[in-house]
Amino acid sequence: MSNIVNSNAMDTAERAAEVLTRGGLIGLPTETVYGLAGSAASERALSKIFEVKGRPVGHPLIVHLASLDQLDHYAQSVPQTAVSLVEACWPGPLTLLLQRSRHVSDLITGNRHTVAIRIPANECARSIIAMHGHAVAAPSANRFGHVSPTTAEHVLADLGENVDIIVDDGPCTIGVESTIIDFTTPVPQLLRPGGFALEDLEELMGIHVAMPDGESRASGMLESHYAPKGKLQLVDSLPDAISIIRAHSEARLIDHWGNLPLYAASLYAQMRQADKDGVQLMVAINPAPTGLGRAIRDRLKKAAHP
Ligand code: TXA
Ligand code: MG
Repeated sequence: MSNIVNSNAMDTAERAAEVLTRGGLIGLPTETVYGLAGSAASERALSKIFEVKGRPVGHPLIVHLASLDQLDHYAQSVPQTAVSLVEACWPGPLTLLLQRSRHVSDLITGNRHTVAIRIPANECARSIIAMHGHAVAAPSANRFGHVSPTTAEHVLADLGENVDIIVDDGPCTIGVESTIIDFTTPVPQLLRPGGFALEDLEELMGIHVAMPDGESRASGMLESHYAPKGKLQLVDSLPDAISIIRAHSEARLIDHWGNLPLYAASLYAQMRQADKDGVQLMVAINPAPTGLGRAIRDRLKKAAHP
């Protein structure tokens, strides 16, 4: 018996909220990737998230809200520019780093003064969180360092029965993680490129976001992350990809490089499928570093790191 439940079943949101309330973990569909969600109000659930993922404690978690009115409970001294931005962008694939409130567990922040927060666009996720009545903390629902999951089956393959229920709402529509912007620095900084295009955020704010420099502050900034088992080689053009494939007939090209939304949405599933098929060498074409291309390049680079 699998622990996957369909998002359309009548009692799914109630069942999921019940699991959260008793300190259990759920596979949560979001528009970016599936999350491994536990109640932000349960220390037991938060510890279990680290255990089940194999994630070192100290790597902080993103707090997911159902609605904007929960923000003040978890964050304080939120700058006006940040408020205006989330009013325009949430629900959506954007995470803000803010000053934490005293209500946020140290397990969530890894003892930092900051907390990462977002409201996911997935309606089923929001109704589960709303029904639970507290925020949920949710990292991507993969084993630490592995490729993020974009389907319920991916979550099952990585985490199996260690998740109480996995809510299946179909494949994630965006397919790469949220964009993370740090609002605790004098000029907002990009901590992780993601599903919300940086250019669009800058236009909404009317300012340039700074690039992270010096010691990077998000764990997603590790050099190796999102990694498949097979080797991944990156190239900048189709002719380059073709010459590699000519030389290594067993190599597989990651498809949909000509269509950025589809490239992002299918990237992790393609890497997982290639691993399943025992492909030893994958080849991927780097998109231009603008819009969604910035996040895709970032994930490809980390997946390709030896
Ligand atoms: O799209 C997403 O953001 C997905 C879905 C499930 O919402 N979540 C996700 O979570 O990607 P995770 O844990 O895989 O990545 C969260 C990133 C990590 O790199 C973590 O270090 C960073 O956010 N982060 C969270 N809280 C932070 C904090 N207080 N300071 C610095 N970085 C933080
Ligand atoms: Mg992750």
